[in-house]
Amino acid sequence: MLKDLHKEFQEVFDGETATGDYFAPGRINLIGEHTDYNGGYVFPASITIGTYGLARKRTDKMVRLYSKNFAELGRIEFSLEDLSYNKKDNWTNYPKGVIAYLIEDGYDVSSGMDLFIYGTIPNGAGLSSSASLELLTGVIVRDLFDLSVEMLDLVKLGKRVENQFIGVNSGIMDQFAIGMGQKDHALLLDTNTLSYEVVPAAFGEYVVAIMNTNKRRELADSKYNERRGECEEALRRLQTKLAIQSLGELDEETFYANTDLIGDETLIRRAKHAVTENQRTLKAKAALQANDLETFGQLLDASHESLRDDYEVTGIELDTLVAAAQAQPGVLGARMTGAGFGGCGIALVKEAVLPEFIEAVGAAYKEKIGYAADFYKASIDDGARKL
Ligand code: GLA
Repeated sequence: MLKDLHKEFQEVFDGETATGDYFAPGRINLIGEHTDYNGGYVFPASITIGTYGLARKRTDKMVRLYSKNFAELGRIEFSLEDLSYNKKDNWTNYPKGVIAYLIEDGYDVSSGMDLFIYGTIPNGAGLSSSASLELLTGVIVRDLFDLSVEMLDLVKLGKRVENQFIGVNSGIMDQFAIGMGQKDHALLLDTNTLSYEVVPAAFGEYVVAIMNTNKRRELADSKYNERRGECEEALRRLQTKLAIQSLGELDEETFYANTDLIGDETLIRRAKHAVTENQRTLKAKAALQANDLETFGQLLDASHESLRDDYEVTGIELDTLVAAAQAQPGVLGARMTGAGFGGCGIALVKEAVLPEFIEAVGAAYKEKIGYAADFYKASIDDGARKL
């Protein structure tokens, strides 16, 4: 495949040759959803589906970009002299933001570059194609200009691009998983301190199936920011009595003893999700380490229920897919993954029955929703890197 991409690079960029190949994965989150902006734990892993990049340095100040996934947009160009956000630059605002912030942080990006991008993450699937593109750009620019910048700094910079340059108020989970991911491992990350533990993602005779609703997350960003605001408000109310900086600091007992401080039924449910999901994440990590996949699976189910009933970020498509998955033989648990409102779910399925699982869940989904779901087996691979 890379050979073909090199040929296309030459065609797109007037016969020039790429000097390096790079890859940044997408991510799944095993559990710990909507906890990363509440100072809680997340448990994601980087996957083999991701974004490829081919690049070469230029001698002038132009940055020229092309994505095989957006071929109809053709080549998009901007100059290092003007790295401001521009709607008409479309997807290239992500790489532009990364370059802009690297320069802002004092790194010497001395000339322009040609970048050819090809992503295998299905569009709008909630597997973090945007964070993948941010980290891909980070490793490319770091390599081309020999910058001494740590991966963790690229991770933080990617989040800044998402929050400030693009304007999505997301947490750090996606960039962290994509930058720091390790083959066959999941990362238990404390988003409060950024300390993390690398845990073998060993599921024995089970595999993690990724189930794509093929429902795009149109409303996702506004609802996402709304949930974030609700959690902040619940925290503010709790802080009138409790000395806490984030919902992630609360154990369930303290939370339930103090819900009257919040005093609003919806806000209580939102905060309840954040608190209980955080505890589930720690329990799930312990269960995985103890090879107790039954318990791990039950925690996945409980996570989905909480996201559906208390946090209300699932929707008919994800609920249908997850319920169908949970009803199949050989399934230990299933839940939505990522922001929700569409996108993907995951299920822990016995590998021997995976074909039957896909057929049965696919049929149930199509019958209720009217269009097909897609299924992929998750393989966990290393984080963003030069190939
Ligand atoms: C999106 C955000 C993450 C995280 C998840 C929900 O993927 O980018 O920061 O908040 O939603 O867990």
